[in-house]
Amino acid sequence: AKSSHGPQEPPRLPALPLIGSLLSLQSPSPPHVLFKELQKKYGETFLLMMGSHRVIIVNQHAHAKEVLLKKGKIFAGRPRTVTTDILTRDGKDIAFGDYSAAWRFHRKIVHGALCMFGEGSASIERIICAEAQSLCCTVSEAAAVGLALDLAPELTRAVTNVVCSLCFNSSYSRGDPEFEAMLRYSQGIVDTVAKDSLVDVFPWLQVFPNADLRLLKHCVAIRDKLLQKKYDEHKADYSDHVQRDLLDALLRAKRSAENNNTVDINAESVGLSDDHLLMTVGDIFGAGVETTTTVLKWAVAYLIHHPDVQRRIQHELDTKIGADRPPRLSDRGSLPYLEATIREVLRIRPVAPLLIPHVALSDSSIGDFRVKKGTRVIINLWSLHHDEKEWNSPELFDPDRFLDSEGTGLTIPSSSYLPFGTGIRVCLGEALAKMELFLFLSWILQHFTLSVPPDHSLPSLEGKFGVVLQPTKYKVKATPRPGWQRAKSQTC
Ligand code: HEM
Repeated sequence: AKSSHGPQEPPRLPALPLIGSLLSLQSPSPPHVLFKELQKKYGETFLLMMGSHRVIIVNQHAHAKEVLLKKGKIFAGRPRTVTTDILTRDGKDIAFGDYSAAWRFHRKIVHGALCMFGEGSASIERIICAEAQSLCCTVSEAAAVGLALDLAPELTRAVTNVVCSLCFNSSYSRGDPEFEAMLRYSQGIVDTVAKDSLVDVFPWLQVFPNADLRLLKHCVAIRDKLLQKKYDEHKADYSDHVQRDLLDALLRAKRSAENNNTVDINAESVGLSDDHLLMTVGDIFGAGVETTTTVLKWAVAYLIHHPDVQRRIQHELDTKIGADRPPRLSDRGSLPYLEATIREVLRIRPVAPLLIPHVALSDSSIGDFRVKKGTRVIINLWSLHHDEKEWNSPELFDPDRFLDSEGTGLTIPSSSYLPFGTGIRVCLGEALAKMELFLFLSWILQHFTLSVPPDHSLPSLEGKFGVVLQPTKYKVKATPRPGWQRAKSQTC
């Protein structure tokens, strides 16, 4: 609707009562690809209806930054949905919690705790390297007997163990029943939350028998039992003097809020009830495992497609580190080509191509468009990362685009690049994820050359859209590199 008094609404897809724009969204393409295509007809920023919800889709970086950065606070809300309410006890976590004083306080504590374990601290490096070593040993066992290997479960275990060490100060070996249960429930949650869209568009569907919702509730119940067990154990031997992990850090913050009689806050109002603490730890698992594992799977798939890129990374590793010691975090600055490759993987296959939906907390605007309070805003990172105006041949995998003209320094060649989002809702695990990607990939490539096993085809690069954009299953052949065959007997 045009108004002579103020900005206009964005162009709008046709919509019907109840079902909204569903008919215009029928497509074999996943939503991020469809939204990118719809730009041709409706422009870069357009409005559609999901049931009765107004949803604005942003496909271009200037508008994306206005939403995330310049007006970050206005657009910091999150929608309440049926599945995320089940997952987070009505938004008592960080990722799906609505913007509030409690959310701000909570996010600050977790951020502080992650920093404590983060860069500059040896502990996170030790944790990741221990997992990288165990991963390399498993791969070399498979390589020794010439097995075509599905790396996915091994990568998941490594990344899960990093998060477990960080949150609970514990890790698991292969086959541990608690660990296997954890993997099963995670998969159940990932599978069902992905299918959630219909239930979210029509919340009244909930009253009908719904097998997916039942499965989700079942998996969440198993997750919560495990979280509760860890929580009880931590409470039982908590001490103010030692901080072993994230759960200790959260418990300490909760206790100090409870003991704080001078300031008008209490543990409940600042978001430190038992529920909040449990849901936050659940969040770190939810947001930290699937995303990082998926990026690693994409990276391996692209490396198999591009043996030249693999060789160049290995050359960099051989000349800068050699074969006498494994890579360390402090090597990051001297391995620009590996860093550029990681950046390119995050660009070409963003695991969260639509970020997490944002919500306008008051009437506002995006560019010249009017935005009503309560409107959901979806940033289509896929469009930003594949914008032909910003990237040469965006579908081409080319790590060199992140290197300067000498090929030695790192750059970000376009502002249309936001793999972790930006602003007050920026990914809380960005630093951790980058450390994991660097260490896991450098360890793997120092030890092995990855290729397609005989009689297998190259991994598909198309991807399957769910909670995250996943590659389809594939197998690899890992060939131990000469210098490391000798060292293996000492490390495994
Ligand atoms: C949010 C990307 C790993 C914790 C997000 C968002 C993106 C993202 C795009 C949404 C930003 C928005 O809605 O505007 C990634 C990628 C990862 C990764 C690409 C791996 C390569 C992690 C890890 C953790 C984590 C390891 C945990 C330690 C979170 C949390 C949020 C979030 C808690 C919600 C923040 C909020 O709503 O305030 N991430 N992430 N992420 N991420 Fe990550």
